[in-house]
Amino acid sequence: MKLKILLFFICCCIGFHSFGSASLNEEVSALLSIKAGLLDPLNRLQDWKLSYNTSHCNWTGVWCNSHGAVEKLDLSHMNLSGRVSDDIEKLQGLTSLNLCCNGFSSSLTKAIYNLTLLISIDVSQNLFVDSFPIGLGRAAVLTLLNASSNNFSGFIPEDIGNATLLETLDLRGNFFEGSIPKSYKNLQKLKFLGLSGNNLTGEIPAELGQLSSLEKIIIGYNEFEGGIPTEFGNLTNLKYLDLAVGNLGGEIPAELGRLKDVETLFLYQNNFEGKIPAAIGNMTALQLLDLSDNMLSGEIPAAISQLKTLKLLNLMCNQLSGAVPAGLGGLNQLQILELWNNSLAGPLPIDLGKNSALQWLDVSSNSFSGEIPAGLCSGGNLTKLILFNNAFSGPFPLRLSTCLSLVRVRMQNNFLSGTIPVGLGKLEKLQRLELANNSLGGQIPSDLASSSSLSFIDVSRNHLTSSLPSTILAIPNLQNFMASNNNLDGEIPDQFQDCPSLSVLDLSSNHFSGTIPASIASCQKMVNLNLKNNQLTGEIPKAIAVMPTLAILDLSNNSLTGGIPENFGTSPALEVLNVSYTP
Ligand SMILES: *[C@@H]1O[C@H](CO)[C@@H](O)[C@H](O)[C@H]1NC(C)=O
Ligand SMILES: *[C@@H]1O[C@H](CO)[C@@H](O)[C@H](O)[C@H]1NC(C)=O
Ligand SMILES: *[C@@H]1O[C@H](CO)[C@@H](O)[C@H](O)[C@H]1NC(C)=O
Ligand SMILES: *[C@@H]1O[C@H](CO)[C@@H](O)[C@H](O)[C@H]1NC(C)=O
Ligand SMILES: *[C@@H]1O[C@H](CO)[C@@H](O)[C@H](O)[C@H]1NC(C)=O
Ligand SMILES: *[C@@H]1O[C@H](CO)[C@@H](O)[C@H](O)[C@H]1NC(C)=O
Ligand SMILES: *[C@@H]1O[C@H](CO)[C@@H](O)[C@H](O)[C@H]1NC(C)=O
Ligand SMILES: *[C@@H]1O[C@H](CO)[C@@H](O)[C@H](O)[C@H]1NC(C)=O
Ligand SMILES: *[C@@H]1O[C@H](CO)[C@@H](O)[C@H](O)[C@H]1NC(C)=O
Ligand SMILES: *[C@@H]1O[C@H](CO)[C@@H](O)[C@H](O)[C@H]1NC(C)=O
Ligand SMILES: *[C@@H]1O[C@H](CO)[C@@H](O)[C@H](O)[C@H]1NC(C)=O
Ligand SMILES: *[C@@H]1O[C@H](CO)[C@@H](O)[C@H](O)[C@H]1NC(C)=O
Repeated sequence: MKLKILLFFICCCIGFHSFGSASLNEEVSALLSIKAGLLDPLNRLQDWKLSYNTSHCNWTGVWCNSHGAVEKLDLSHMNLSGRVSDDIEKLQGLTSLNLCCNGFSSSLTKAIYNLTLLISIDVSQNLFVDSFPIGLGRAAVLTLLNASSNNFSGFIPEDIGNATLLETLDLRGNFFEGSIPKSYKNLQKLKFLGLSGNNLTGEIPAELGQLSSLEKIIIGYNEFEGGIPTEFGNLTNLKYLDLAVGNLGGEIPAELGRLKDVETLFLYQNNFEGKIPAAIGNMTALQLLDLSDNMLSGEIPAAISQLKTLKLLNLMCNQLSGAVPAGLGGLNQLQILELWNNSLAGPLPIDLGKNSALQWLDVSSNSFSGEIPAGLCSGGNLTKLILFNNAFSGPFPLRLSTCLSLVRVRMQNNFLSGTIPVGLGKLEKLQRLELANNSLGGQIPSDLASSSSLSFIDVSRNHLTSSLPSTILAIPNLQNFMASNNNLDGEIPDQFQDCPSLSVLDLSSNHFSGTIPASIASCQKMVNLNLKNNQLTGEIPKAIAVMPTLAILDLSNNSLTGGIPENFGTSPALEVLNVSYTP
């Protein structure tokens, strides 16, 4: 009898110490059941095991509330996969579940339906498949749901509209289909709505305009129909509106002008048409405005000049016409201005870039005319200057030849006159210099030859005279040198010993004389050598025939003698050979 009592006492003690209560006991077995369903290659959950001196509240990724019930499970970034057990529903006190950034490729257990105290669910960055479990709308205190970057499919969960305390809903980057549920209008606390990169269709519900707390909407990269609801103009707390690549059309509603806190407006790659509404000038907090790749027409509204904090203005690939508002020159925070591929005309604002941070300017493929503004680089930050396919005239601005930040200068197909200024060879970052098809005269400045950065030089189709700087073809990174259709003369400099990168050399249609330097054959990467239409004499160097990558060789219309070297038939890469001679 005594023994029996003692045994009973011992059992009670062990039971009490290790588990405390029946429900804790159940939580421990739920956690162990979860662990059993997981693949844990890095053994991150190795301390998830019964022991007498530690409680499960101390297990990796487990947090308990003051009553000893599990309230937080953070299994993020643990390389876990497998399946989360339905037993998770036994963790009835769970308020926060984080499975982010693992390798789950199963479906997500429907049992989270029963976890009605959940405040935060993050299952992002996994490969979860199938539909998202229905029922979370019951989680009346849910404030954050992040299921982004998964393979969820099926309809976008409609009942989420019942989780009226939700502040963050991020379903970006899945395969959800169907339209955005109208029920989402109930999410009056919602600040972040991310649905981009799914297969959503249908119209964007006007009801979203009632989400008065919204600060950030990112819903592009879908296949919507219709346009932007004018009701979006009611979202006055909005700071970020991204509808890019959404298959949206119609006009951009002037109501957006009421969104005075919006800093980012991305509407690029849609089918928006009509004019850019002048009301956009009322969005005075705008920093990034991208309306590119649409069918917008008419003029750029002068009101855009009111956007004093603008850092990026991208309007390329539309059908905009008329002149650029002079006021754009006063936007001194502007770093990126891309207007290419429109029908814009007239001069650029004369003070563009003055006192500003301008880094990229691309106005190519328009009908711009007049002189290139002299102060484009006065902030010292200009890296890309892209003006090709326009009707710019006047000289190459002298001040640009001291712009040390320049990486690309592309001004071909204009009416630039005067000379190529001295100094470009000292711009240590300059890689591309494209000045073809202008009316530039004078000589190729010899300082270009001292550049260590230039890889692409095209000065073809100008009126350049005199001879080539003797070391210009020895620029260490030079890949392409094109100077065809000028009035260059003298001999081709015999400086090919150091041409490690040169692959295209086009000196055709000039007045070069003398012989073809045999050293040209040392250019191991040469693919295209064009010397046609000159006054070259002497023999074709035999060594040319063994150049390993030479594919196109045109020596026609010269005064070469001695015939074609015999070994040309064995040339390793040659595809096109033209040595025809028409005196
Ligand atoms: C619990 O006991 C094990 C084995 O005796 C020991 O290795 C571990 O450090 C102990 N843990 C704590 C928190 O005391
Ligand atoms: C949790 O572990 C800490 C030491 O790591 C220990 O001091 C504490 O007693 C443990 N708590 C429980 C409930 O086991
Ligand atoms: C853990 O996962 C990360 C990211 O998924 C991966 O880069 C890493 O190689 C994995 N580590 C191991 C040991 O599997
Ligand atoms: C998830 O989707 C990607 C992209 O379609 C696919 O390559 C991958 O196999 C899918 N993974 C699973 C587990 O379904
Ligand atoms: C979970 O919900 C289902 C359906 O409402 C119910 O039958 C089940 O008992 C619940 N489980 C728990 C642990 O509450
Ligand atoms: C959701 O998770 C992803 C990846 O873990 C993260 O990049 C993103 O910022 C999260 N969304 C929100 C709104 O915090
Ligand atoms: C939202 O809640 C209401 C009332 O509680 C319920 O009638 C409705 O079915 C729920 N909606 C969804 C989509 O679950
Ligand atoms: C979803 O979109 C992807 C990529 O845009 C596409 O490959 C796929 O066919 C679409 N699926 C459905 C069901 O529309
Ligand atoms: C929201 O915008 C629409 C159309 O722009 C307007 O008719 C409506 O009155 C606005 N609603 C509220 C609550 O401001
Ligand atoms: C800009 O806002 C002002 C005042 O809020 C308003 O009077 C004006 O009509 C708006 N401009 C446009 C073009 O909508
Ligand atoms: C220029 O824009 C038109 C539409 O306006 C587009 O069709 C074309 O592809 C664009 N060109 C380039 C080079 O992007
Ligand atoms: C402009 O360039 C200077 C010096 O290179 C740099 O300190 C500054 O941050 C740049 N400004 C911007 C807006 O990038």
